[in-house]
Amino acid sequence: LDIGLWYIDVSVMSAVKQEKQVSSKSTPTDLVTEADHQVEELIISTLREKYPSHGFIGEESSAAGVTCELTDDPTWIIDPIDGTCNFVHSFPMVAVSIGFAVRKELELGVIYHCFDGTLYTARKGHGAFCNGVRLQVSKEKDVSKALILTEIGAKRDPATLDIFLGNMKKLLSAPTHGVRIIGSSTLALCHIASGAAEAYYQYGLHCWDIAAAAVIIREAGGYVIDTTGGPLDLMSRRVVAAGTRQIADYVVKQLQPINYGRDDLT
Ligand code: IPD
Repeated sequence: LDIGLWYIDVSVMSAVKQEKQVSSKSTPTDLVTEADHQVEELIISTLREKYPSHGFIGEESSAAGVTCELTDDPTWIIDPIDGTCNFVHSFPMVAVSIGFAVRKELELGVIYHCFDGTLYTARKGHGAFCNGVRLQVSKEKDVSKALILTEIGAKRDPATLDIFLGNMKKLLSAPTHGVRIIGSSTLALCHIASGAAEAYYQYGLHCWDIAAAAVIIREAGGYVIDTTGGPLDLMSRRVVAAGTRQIADYVVKQLQPINYGRDDLT
């Protein structure tokens, strides 16, 4: 997949050093910068030139009102800068995420960690890799030995935060080894693929946070499912991912849901 990643890398990393024009989208904590728009335009125009008949779902195009609908057409699902809040603060957890689906099936995933230059790639049926080295999820089944990752999501009203903290409390008191929040859903999910953590859960992420990572985790031998325990619904804004089904099922049982609506209904 030659999409000029070196050029995207230069764009993101030079933008990190410059003064950013920051604005907010759905809530005051849902941030966007000029760089998010520029990188998305760069990725979509590069891919569109090569694949003129393909469809595109992009975080910033969707925020600008383009319908976020997954059809049977070959479709690229793009988060130009995942971890925008980290990007704004130069906190070194920022990624570019590109997934590809055909007939609604996720086929390809590419996630680039901009600060340390690691490239996660996977193609359905062909394995998952980090800088060319094969990835393998953790095979841990015992939740008391698990490290769990999550992200907060954009809603910060007291009722949502109570549920968020309640879910985290349940998982901390399981007890697990710990719960971590790094500020980038895609990079957290890459840590599940590499076996650095056992499980991830979140309410409030988007299809562009999950698409590429789902292929990478599944190809590394892991599970990516709905928070109810059923099959993943890419548009549902919720996910549980884990190295083993046992840990995924345990996490599912602890969670109280937070309703963020759907990507395809906004
Ligand atoms: C967000 C980040 C954040 C997570 C949100 C994502 P963005 O992506 O991954 O950590 O909590 O749910 O949407 O807005 O930085 O691309």
